[in-house]
Amino acid sequence: MNLKSIIQAGNPILKQRSIDVPLDKINTAEIQSIIDDLIFTMQQVHGAGLAAPQIGVPLRILCYGFDYNPRYPKASAIPLTVLINPVILSFSEEVTDEFEGCLSISTLRAEVPRYKKIEVKAYDRIGNEIIKKVQDFEAKVVQHEIDHLDGILFVERIKDFTHFGFTAELQKQGVIP
Ligand code: NI
Repeated sequence: MNLKSIIQAGNPILKQRSIDVPLDKINTAEIQSIIDDLIFTMQQVHGAGLAAPQIGVPLRILCYGFDYNPRYPKASAIPLTVLINPVILSFSEEVTDEFEGCLSISTLRAEVPRYKKIEVKAYDRIGNEIIKKVQDFEAKVVQHEIDHLDGILFVERIKDFTHFGFTAELQKQGVIP
């Protein structure tokens, strides 16, 4: 597995819709190697999640999960998860606004509204269909990463620009941990 560089905002790769992985290709060496690189890179840079287009691969693959994440020190552990061709089946009426960031826009944080709970259908890395209900921080991560697959960056979701700034300054002000 290889450490990939994270594509930064401004690169058009991050603004395109990624394409579905053909199901009969999930178990190929090529796709498995992309998944290994995605997980390894996420872990090396302490991401909460990472989407394939962020390492330059325009396929609908994302991963997330960590034991402890220094970027989000208050977040509880989430098991390592890979979602291929994820689709949101349903979402809660309740929406919560919390600060989030992105490795492709690494110095900025902003409050972004996300559904509190979602149900998502996807395939795991061996090609089994899975349906998961996720909530709270995990639901935010999944929505953020699926947005990457659709070419949407979190800054496009900001509704209130009074809750937006550089990570270091927001930490200095005590707004984020
Ligand atoms: Ni991101």
